[in-house]
Amino acid sequence: MSFRSYTNLVNALFIIVSSFCFGFGSADSTITRTRFIRDSETITSNDGAFKLGFISFVNSSTNRYLGIWYLNQSDVVWVANREQPLKDSAGSLKISEDGNLVVLDGNNQTIWSSNITKTASSNLTAQLQDIGNLVLQDGITGEILWQSFDHPWSTVIPKMRLTINRITGKRITVTSSKSLSDPSPWIFSVSLERPSTPEVFLWVNGTRPYWRTGPWNGRVFIGAPQMSTGYLYGWSIGNGDDGTVSLTYSFLDPAAFGTLSLNSEGKIDMVRWYNRTKVLKMAIPISDCDAYGLCGPFGSCNGESTPICSCLSGYDPRNLEEWNRQNWTSGCVRKTLLQCERVKNGSEAGEKDGFLKLETMKVPDFAERTGAEDHCDTQCLENCSCIAYAYDPYIGCMYWSRGLIDLQKFSSGGVDLYIRLAHSELVSVGHVDKGSNKKKLVIAIALTVGTIALAFCVCLLWKCSAKNRGKEQPESHTQRMIEDQKPTKLDELPLFDFEVLAAATNDFHLANTLGKGGFGQVYKGELGDGQEIAVKRLSRASGQGLEEFMNEVKVISKLQHRNLVRLLGCCIEGDEKMLIYEFMPNKSLDAFLFDPQQKKLLDWRTRFSIIEGVARDEVNTRRIVGTYGYMSPEYAMEGLFSEKSDVYSFGILLLEIVSGKRNNKFYNNAQTLNLTGYAWRLWNQDKIFSLIDPEISDQGFEHQILRCIHIGLLCVQEVARERPSMTTVVSMLNSEIINLPPPSHVAFINRQSSSSLECSTSESHGKYSANNVTLTDIQGR
Ligand SMILES: *[C@@H]1O[C@H](CO)[C@@H](O)[C@H](O)[C@H]1NC(C)=O
Ligand SMILES: *[C@@H]1O[C@H](CO)[C@@H](O)[C@H](O)[C@H]1NC(C)=O
Ligand SMILES: *[C@@H]1O[C@H](CO)[C@@H](O)[C@H](O)[C@H]1NC(C)=O
Ligand SMILES: *[C@@H]1O[C@H](CO)[C@@H](O)[C@H](O)[C@H]1NC(C)=O
Ligand SMILES: *[C@@H]1O[C@H](CO)[C@@H](O)[C@H](O)[C@H]1NC(C)=O
Ligand SMILES: *[C@@H]1O[C@H](CO)[C@@H](O)[C@H](O)[C@H]1NC(C)=O
Ligand SMILES: *[C@@H]1O[C@H](CO)[C@@H](O)[C@H](O)[C@H]1NC(C)=O
Ligand SMILES: *[C@@H]1O[C@H](CO)[C@@H](O)[C@H](O)[C@H]1NC(C)=O
Ligand SMILES: *[C@@H]1O[C@H](CO)[C@@H](O)[C@H](O)[C@H]1NC(C)=O
Ligand SMILES: *[C@@H]1O[C@H](CO)[C@@H](O)[C@H](O)[C@H]1NC(C)=O
Repeated sequence: MSFRSYTNLVNALFIIVSSFCFGFGSADSTITRTRFIRDSETITSNDGAFKLGFISFVNSSTNRYLGIWYLNQSDVVWVANREQPLKDSAGSLKISEDGNLVVLDGNNQTIWSSNITKTASSNLTAQLQDIGNLVLQDGITGEILWQSFDHPWSTVIPKMRLTINRITGKRITVTSSKSLSDPSPWIFSVSLERPSTPEVFLWVNGTRPYWRTGPWNGRVFIGAPQMSTGYLYGWSIGNGDDGTVSLTYSFLDPAAFGTLSLNSEGKIDMVRWYNRTKVLKMAIPISDCDAYGLCGPFGSCNGESTPICSCLSGYDPRNLEEWNRQNWTSGCVRKTLLQCERVKNGSEAGEKDGFLKLETMKVPDFAERTGAEDHCDTQCLENCSCIAYAYDPYIGCMYWSRGLIDLQKFSSGGVDLYIRLAHSELVSVGHVDKGSNKKKLVIAIALTVGTIALAFCVCLLWKCSAKNRGKEQPESHTQRMIEDQKPTKLDELPLFDFEVLAAATNDFHLANTLGKGGFGQVYKGELGDGQEIAVKRLSRASGQGLEEFMNEVKVISKLQHRNLVRLLGCCIEGDEKMLIYEFMPNKSLDAFLFDPQQKKLLDWRTRFSIIEGVARDEVNTRRIVGTYGYMSPEYAMEGLFSEKSDVYSFGILLLEIVSGKRNNKFYNNAQTLNLTGYAWRLWNQDKIFSLIDPEISDQGFEHQILRCIHIGLLCVQEVARERPSMTTVVSMLNSEIINLPPPSHVAFINRQSSSSLECSTSESHGKYSANNVTLTDIQGR
C-alpha cells in the first residue's frame, strides 16, 4: 500500500471514528453555552481539515495548550494560551457567563480569555470554520464578537490577515515562538508597515527592524526578489473603509493549502499541502545583506562584493575609521552639496543637479508617493528635499526625502533607483546625460549575444555519401522531411551544396556571423528562395571522429521529440562539415523566454502547452532540442548519445521554461552554478519556489509548476539510466504517474571549482570539454 493511500485510509478512519464518537453532525464544529470541550475532546471543521483541541508540544508533554491544527497535530496553526500552559489534562474550553471564550483549569480558574467586553448575548456560538478560523458569534444578530484570525500566534494561513490601520496604527502581528517545545512569544515578529506603500517587516524585540520586503506592487514585493511569484500566488493587499490596510493570501485551487510560520530563529518557514498531502517545506531565504540598514544611511549592501557594504556614488563614509573596521552603522555622507543646498548656504548655485541611475536595487525604506505616475525626475528635481526617486509600473513614482536606508544591490530584480547628485559628481562618475546611446549599444550587444546563443548548435560531422543529392532544391528536402512520418533513415537528411551555402552566407562573411562556439562558427544566411537559415560550420579542430558523428546523427534522426531549431540538412565536402538550421529570430522560444519584455507574454498555460508539445512526439518536424547547453554530461564528455541524452535536454528545457533562465548562464549569489546546479541547490534548501520565473503570474498552477520542476530535475540526473524515459516523462506530465521519485545526483556545472573560467556566453559544452570544469553533485536530502 502506498504511503498516500495509507494516509488517506488513516484520515478516513479518523473521520469515521470521530464522527462516531461525537456524533454531533455539523454541530461538531461548534461550541455553545451548553456545549463545551474537555482536554480529551476536539471539535472539527465541517470539511474535516481543521481540529480544535488540547495539545502538547515536543519535550513538554505535561504542558497543555488549546490549539487548532491542520490534519495532523504536529501542524499547529493557532494556540490560545501560549503564555499560560495548563499543567495537566484537566482543562476545558467554554463560553463563560460573561460571553467570553475561556480556557479553564481543573479548578475552574480562567487561565485564558477572549477578553471581549461586549454585553453578552444569550445565544452565542463559537465555530471552527472550514478556513481554520475560530469565530465567536452572536447567534441572533450574527455579529462576530471575536475570531482567532485576529489573534495569530506564529503562523499565518490562507485568508488570515496581517493589518495596519493608517489612522490608529493598530496592527495584527505575528510573533514567533520560543522554540518547538515552548510556544510562548519570542523576540521576532512580523507586521505590515508603511500603509501608503505596504510592505512586510520582520522585527526584533518589536522595535528593531530586521528585514523588510519592500513595497508590494500588486504582484511581488519589490525589495525581496528571492520571493519570486511562486511564493506569492494568491497574495493581495486590501484597503478597508476604516483605514485598515490588510495583506492576505489564498489559493484559487481548493486542494491547495499552505502555512507561513515565523520560527524561533527569525526565519519564515513555508509549508505547502496539496490534496491534503504535504508537498513542500521551505524557508524564505534571508541573507546577511538583507539585514535592515546594515550599511547605514546612503550605504548599499552587495552580497557579491567584499566588503559587502559600500557608499553610494557621490558619498563618503561618515566615519572612515569605523567604516574600515566594518562598522557601517553610521553610513555615508554626501561629498558635494546639491544645488539648492548651495543656494541656501549662500554660495554660488552652479549647474543643475542630476540623477545617477542604480540598477537592480532594493528600494530604500520610507518611500513617499505623490500620486504622480510619470515624470518622476522633474517632480523630484523641483523639490529640494527630494534626494532620490524610483518608478515601478504598478506603483508609480516613489520619492525619498530623508536618509536612504536599507539599500541593497541585487543581481537581478529590484528597481532602478535614481539618486540625486550635484552636477560635478555626475561628471566625475562619467554619467552626464550621454547615457542613452550607450544604453542602446548595451541592448544591441545583449540582443546579439542572445542570437548567438540561439544559433549555437550541437556539433556534428557527417559524411556526404551522396553528394549529388545536394543539388536538389533545399525546400523540397524540407517538404519531404515534414511529410515523412516514419523515423527517418540517415540518408534522408537533406544535403546542401557547399556553393549554395557559401552564396547564402555571403561567402561566410564576418558580418553574417551569429556566433562562435567551441565546435565552430555559426552564420546567418538566406537561400535563393528567401528562407533564412543558420549555418553551423564545424571547426576542423573539433576533433569528432566520422564514426561518432554518423552515430550521433542517426540517434538524433530517430529521436522522438524535436524542438526549437529545425535541422534542415547538412553538408560535407572535403574538410567542410556544416549543419543547416532554420533561422527563427523572433519565433523561437528563446526569443520569448529570455527576453524580459517578450516573456511577459508567456503565461503558465502557454508554457505548459509548449512543454507538452515538446514532450509529445512531434516526429515529423525533425527538430533538435535546442542548441547549446542542453547536452547531457555523457554526451558532452564522452560523446555517448542515447535517448536518455534527449531526456536530459528535455529536462533542461523544462527548467528553462519554468525559470525563464538560461542553463548556461551562472546563478546563485556567487554566480557559480549553472541553472541545473542552481535548481538542485534550491531544491535541497527547500527554496525551489525561487526558481519560478517571476513573470509567471497566473494563479492556481503552483502544483503543476512544482511538478514540472520535479520532473525537470529527474530528467537531468547525472546517471543516464536513472533518468525517466520520454514515455514516462509524458505520463508524469499528464499525471498518469502521480508519485514522483525524489531526484538525486543532478548533473551540473559548479564554476567555483574552476580557476580560470571565462563566462563566454553560450558555450557550455566548451566548458564541459575544458578540464577546468568539474561536474559536481550535492547529496540529496
Ligand atoms: C503527523 O506528523 C508526524 C510528524 O511529522 C508524522 O510522524 C505522522 O506520520 C503524521 N501523521 C499522519 C497521520 O500523517
Ligand atoms: C468545574 O465546573 C464544572 C461544570 O461547571 C463542574 O462540574 C465541576 O465540578 C467544577 N470543578 C471544580 C473543581 O469546581
Ligand atoms: C485578558 O485580560 C487580562 C487582564 O487585563 C490580561 O491579563 C490577559 O493577558 C488578557 N488575555 C488576552 C488573551 O489578551
Ligand atoms: C441560537 O441562534 C441560532 C441562530 O439564530 C438558532 O439556530 C439556535 O437555535 C439558537 N440557540 C439557542 C440555544 O437559542
Ligand atoms: C527534545 O529533547 C531531546 C533530548 O533532550 C533533544 O535532542 C531534542 O532536540 C528536543 N526537541 C526539541 C524540539 O526541543
Ligand atoms: C532584545 O531584547 C533583549 C532583552 O531586552 C536583549 O537582551 C536583546 O539583546 C535584544 N535583541 C536585539 C537584537 O536587540
Ligand atoms: C485528491 O486525492 C484523491 C484521493 O487520493 C483523488 O481521488 C483525487 O483525484 C485527488 N485530486 C487531485 C486534484 O489530485
Ligand atoms: C559602531 O558604531 C556605532 C556608532 O559610532 C557605535 O554606537 C557602535 O557601538 C559601533 N559598533 C561596534 C560593534 O563597534
Ligand atoms: C556652507 O558653506 C560653508 C563654507 O563653504 C561650509 O563651511 C559649510 O559646511 C556649508 N554648510 C553646509 C550645511 O554644508
Ligand atoms: C517636498 O518634499 C517634501 C518631502 O516629501 C514634502 O513634505 C514637501 O511638501 C514637498 N514640497 C513641495 C513644494 O512639493
